[in-house]
Amino acid sequence: MSKEIKNLINIEKNKDYIVKIESYGHEGEGVAKVEGFTIFIAGALKGEVVKVKLIKVNKNYGVGKLLEVIEPSEKRVKPICGTYKRCGGCNLQHYSYEEQLNFKTERVKNVISRIGKLEDVVIHNTLGMENPYNYRNKVQLPVGATGEEILVGFYAPRSHDIINMDKCYIQDEVGDKVIEITKQWMKKFKISSYDEKSHSGIIRHIMVRKGFKTGEIMVVLVTRSEELPHKQEFVDLIKENINGVVSIIQNINKEKTNVILGLQSLTLWGQDHISDYIGEFKFNISPLSFFQVNPVQTEVLYGKALEYAGLTGEETVFDAYCGTGTISLFLSKRAKEVYGVEIIPQAIENAKENARTNGITNAEFIVGKSEEEIPRLIAQGIKADVVVVDPPRKGCEESLLKALSEIKPKRIVYVSCDPATLARDLGVLDGLGYKTLEIQPVDMFPQTAHVECVALIEKK
Ligand SMILES: C[S@@+](CC[C@H](N)C(=O)[O-])C[C@H]1O[C@@H](n2cnc3c(N)ncnc32)[C@H](O)[C@@H]1O
Repeated sequence: MSKEIKNLINIEKNKDYIVKIESYGHEGEGVAKVEGFTIFIAGALKGEVVKVKLIKVNKNYGVGKLLEVIEPSEKRVKPICGTYKRCGGCNLQHYSYEEQLNFKTERVKNVISRIGKLEDVVIHNTLGMENPYNYRNKVQLPVGATGEEILVGFYAPRSHDIINMDKCYIQDEVGDKVIEITKQWMKKFKISSYDEKSHSGIIRHIMVRKGFKTGEIMVVLVTRSEELPHKQEFVDLIKENINGVVSIIQNINKEKTNVILGLQSLTLWGQDHISDYIGEFKFNISPLSFFQVNPVQTEVLYGKALEYAGLTGEETVFDAYCGTGTISLFLSKRAKEVYGVEIIPQAIENAKENARTNGITNAEFIVGKSEEEIPRLIAQGIKADVVVVDPPRKGCEESLLKALSEIKPKRIVYVSCDPATLARDLGVLDGLGYKTLEIQPVDMFPQTAHVECVALIEKK
């Protein structure tokens, strides 16, 4: 093999190469070098010798299509799902679960040293799940058609082609059943599926939510129009066949958009929400509410955040990017007071309602940008002893980190869904006098390359 690599002199598109995979890219694709030129190969594992066709050559890197695994890794497993290769829902099913966790830990270590330039941070092994399948409590899939056939499934990677599936291995099994019933109902009553090119047809998406601890189920049909023929028959079929259903909803989305849900929801039958618990706290979940999709690992993540916060009951805590206040509620039981800040007004409404439902009186929720509202709180003389941030993928605004460092909280807990922006922000905090002590990666999304982290940062 090495002889063959040595013999190559040119990097040419559409040519086949035999390469050894040296490491992983951030999407979990294999990375190989040909004469120092980097090639990314989806589907290849570290240590493997593979044959690839070079399908893209950019200035600094190329993309190879995997043709053959010549020497497989012992970490390679047969994907459980029949549509895995075409579907864009998962991309690590060919990894053993142990290797998925190793990949995630290595990815965090790599960005912390390369982007954050931090060398002495303790990075723990990624906390995985006992059963890394059927973990999602929310099914949300587009509906389309080819000819007579109704299609429901994830989009293929980087496209809007629906990969039809009968079974999804990362979602709760009730989703498969609801999809099957909906397809039968659409077929029987000739209900059209949405066509995004012509912006016509009726059924756009199917959404199913399930309370992990309560078992309550919500079924949502997202429609392009208010008109929904034979809705009573749909309601009857769902009630007859789905144990635990408490809510059947029509959500109307008239817009030509990639956003899945519209703002208007009509209750076709039952309640307008389901309930679930995270730890001891009860949450009401409506079609539009944000709620973590992996309930088992959410408790692990929040438990770690609470441990790192090190609260004694005396502290004032800021929870920046608080969403529907889930972390705030966890913190409030062990703190003097909590201020949650979130940009989406509806989420703040949910947060206030969640606090009320759980009898929490020491949490205040504020609508606005964290980088504006937290300096405002500080200007009012409110200072946090501990700060928790849980920003979206793009991370925190530098101005927020600076404002926080000026009030000198003794501890910052950073919950992150993107290790690269986490690393960047930890680097910034280091320059502002805050040392990252440890990071705990948590596997919230098994079978995919996503990794969530909690970091403990202390005043130097
Ligand atoms: C990763 S979610 C965290 C939600 C919450 N902590 C939880 O665990 O459920 C990030 C949240 O930040 C909000 N957000 C985005 N930009 C923001 C900003 N500049 N200021 C405050 N909140 C923001 C988003 O709407 C979203 O709810």
